[in-house]
Formats: sequence, structure tokens, C-alpha cells
Amino acid sequence: MSLPRTVDWDGEAVVIVEQTLLPHRLERVRLTDVGAVIDAIVRLAVRGAPAIGVTGALGVALAARLDPARRAITDAAEAIATARPTAVNLRWAVERTLRRLDDGPEGLLDEALTILAEDAATCRALGERGADFVVERCGARPLTVQTHCNAGALATVEWGTALGIVRSLHARGLIAEVLVDETRPLLQGARITAFELEADGIAYRVQADGAGPCAIARGMVDVVIVGADRVAANGDTANKLGTYPLALAAARAGVPFVVAAPESTLDPATPDGSHIEIEQRAEREVLELAGVRITPPGARAWNPAFDVTPHDLVTAVATERRIWFPGPGGDLPQG
Ligand code: MRU
Repeated sequence: MSLPRTVDWDGEAVVIVEQTLLPHRLERVRLTDVGAVIDAIVRLAVRGAPAIGVTGALGVALAARLDPARRAITDAAEAIATARPTAVNLRWAVERTLRRLDDGPEGLLDEALTILAEDAATCRALGERGADFVVERCGARPLTVQTHCNAGALATVEWGTALGIVRSLHARGLIAEVLVDETRPLLQGARITAFELEADGIAYRVQADGAGPCAIARGMVDVVIVGADRVAANGDTANKLGTYPLALAAARAGVPFVVAAPESTLDPATPDGSHIEIEQRAEREVLELAGVRITPPGARAWNPAFDVTPHDLVTAVATERRIWFPGPGGDLPQG
């Protein structure tokens, strides 16, 4: 099954796949004003670092069509850029779009559509480069891949980053199975990654988040491949909560831990992970499961959306342009 683009522009509005309905319903919705764009990003109706970047860029273009006054556009851009703080792609895409402010609404739209087109091409290139690296490390044999959250087509415009590598490996006949963490509390793995793999006929099993390190320790996993929301200059990597335990287990077991991220997710301005702002989300996401309260009335929750994996646990960062090995003296090379 081929998925529609996760984010698109229909000539008048931003169109997204409404991801809160997956896997039961694949529906697209039109976002016709800036408030709707921000709401979709905050609710995770559109999610994944590259996808929210593209949505943010198109949101700026939409704002300019609705009110071409400079102040209105820059205010809208700031509101969009701060909708979610951890994924650097969002601010990056909004600021890149704003550089065309002097060119008016058409210039802003042109830039946003360029970012959209680049994202699709980027993921294909990243997938091939990452797959080459995995084969080099693990050998050209059917591999079991452990992943977390959703860094797939639905986290980008199409194809995906971590799942882009999986798709490239699958096209070469090199995927035995993908182990998919369910990814509490919002279940992006169980709902969205599983949906994508099933649609593509790629073998997978869903597991509770705690099973990931266990599978690695038991020798079931050949390589861990995850996405990223922000990679600091030293290689410290923010990604969905639950990534760090996989990295710890992988290091202990000698299993490669690969971060798949477009160049737009690399943030040379952030020196290390301690400077990455981690989004805190509503307590009810943890206290409830699919909208049903599962905890006693007095329960409180701590709900960070992401964790930070220190760079010494990262085997490599695969981008569309390079394989980067963070480590001593290996801070983010420019370009
Ligand atoms: O909260 P989410 O669902 O936006 O978190 C998504 C992730 O953590 C992804 O792994 C990351 O954004 C990379 S997407 C290619």
C-alpha cells in the first residue's frame, strides 16, 4: 500500500495525515489557519521531527496568505516554532522559510515547498547510505533490526529516516524482522511503525518497551536503528523517551546503535545534550491509556517526551550526506 504524503500543500491549505486516528483510520485533514497548524503539531496529529519542520514551514506560508503584514507573519512564525521545543527541525524550517519574507507570500510558499521536496529526496538518500553502513557493519545477511517510536514515512514527508534504512535493507532482501517498541505513552511504535511495516509487507513484531533491552541482551538483535529530534554538536542525541535504554543495552552487547537523521536534525549550535530542551507533556498521557484512566485518582505523572543518548553510546549518525562517528575530537563537522 502506498501512503499519501504525510504533509502536503493543496494550493490553499496544509494537508496532513491525522496520525491520532492510526492505525484504524487513514484520514487526511486540511489545516486552514495558523491555530489549526499549531494545534495539529501540539496534539501530535502530525509528528516526527522532519514532518513537523515541513508543517511549520507551510504554516508560515499559510500565515502570509491569510495576513501579509510582516508583523503578523513573524508573530505566527514564532508561535509555530515554539509549539514543540525539542525537534530542531521545526525552528530550522520556520527560520529558513522566513528568510524569504521580503519576497512576500509567494516567496515564503516557494521556500516551504522546496523544504518539502528536499525532505522526500533526503530520506531516500539517507536510507541508502544508512543501509550501506549497516551492511558494512553487520554483513549482507537477513538482519533483525530493533527500532523505537516512529521514524518512518509518517514522521517525514515520505519514506522515513530509521525506517528509510529499513526500507532500503528490505529492498535488498536483508530484513529478517523488525522489533518495534510499542512506545508508551502515545504508542507511536505500536500504532504507526507497525502500520507502515505491515503496509510494506516487512516482517515485524511489536513488543513492550521494556522488552527492547531484553531482546538485545539475549542476542536477538543485529542492529538498533532510531531517529532523532536533535543531535548536539558532540553527537548527544535526543529522541523519543526509551531510546537511551536501547543504547545502553546495545553498547553492553556490542550491537551497533545507529542514529538516522537528516542534516537538518544536526544542531551545531547546541554543544551537548545537557543544553537540549526536553518537552514535558501532559500528565494525563501517562495516567490514561487510549483515553481511559488506568491509575488511581491521586496518581501524578512525570512525562518527558524525549531522552538524551550520550554520544559515546552512538556507533554512527547516518545522514543524507555522510556517516558521522561522534567521539573524542569528533564534534559535528560543518557541511
Ligand atoms: O513525539 P514524536 O512522535 O514527534 O517523536 C518522534 C521521534 O522521537 C522520532 O524518532 C524523531 O522525531 C525522528 S522522526 C524521523
